Amino acid sequence: MHKPAIFLALVISSSSLSAFADSHEASGEATFDKACGRCHEATDFAGKAKDELATAAKGIISGEVKHPGRYSKFTEEDAERIAAFLASQE
Ligand code: HEC
Repeated sequence: MHKPAIFLALVISSSSLSAFADSHEASGEATFDKACGRCHEATDFAGKAKDELATAAKGIISGEVKHPGRYSKFTEEDAERIAAFLASQE
C-alpha cells in the first residue's frame, strides 16, 4: 500500500460504519479462509468497496458467476461476512 492517507481514510470510514460490521468481520475471516483462501489472499481485494465484494461473493456462492471452486455449503450470509472481512482489510 503506497497511499497511507487513503489507507487511513478507508480505515476510519469503514470502522465507523456500524457494530454490525465488526461482528461480521471476525467470522468473515474464517469463512473467507474456507471458501476463498485456497486461491486468494485477503489483500488481493484491497481497494474494492464492500458492496462490490458482496455482489461478487454472492454471485460466486450462488453459482450465478462462473468461478473455480465449489460453494454449495456456503450461504448468502457467508458472502456478506466475507465481504465485510475483505472490506476491513483495505
Ligand atoms: C479454486 C480457486 C478459487 C477459489 C476457491 C476462489 N477463487 Fe476467486 N478467482 C480464482 C481465479 C483463478 C480468478 C481469476 C484470476 C484472477 O483474476 O485473479 C479469480 C478471480 C476472482 C475475483 C476477480 C478478481 C478481481 O480482482 O477482479 C474475485 C472478486 C474473486 N475471485 C472472489 C472470490 C471469492 C469471494 C471467493 C470465495 C467465495 C473466491 N474468489 C474463491 C480462483 C478462485
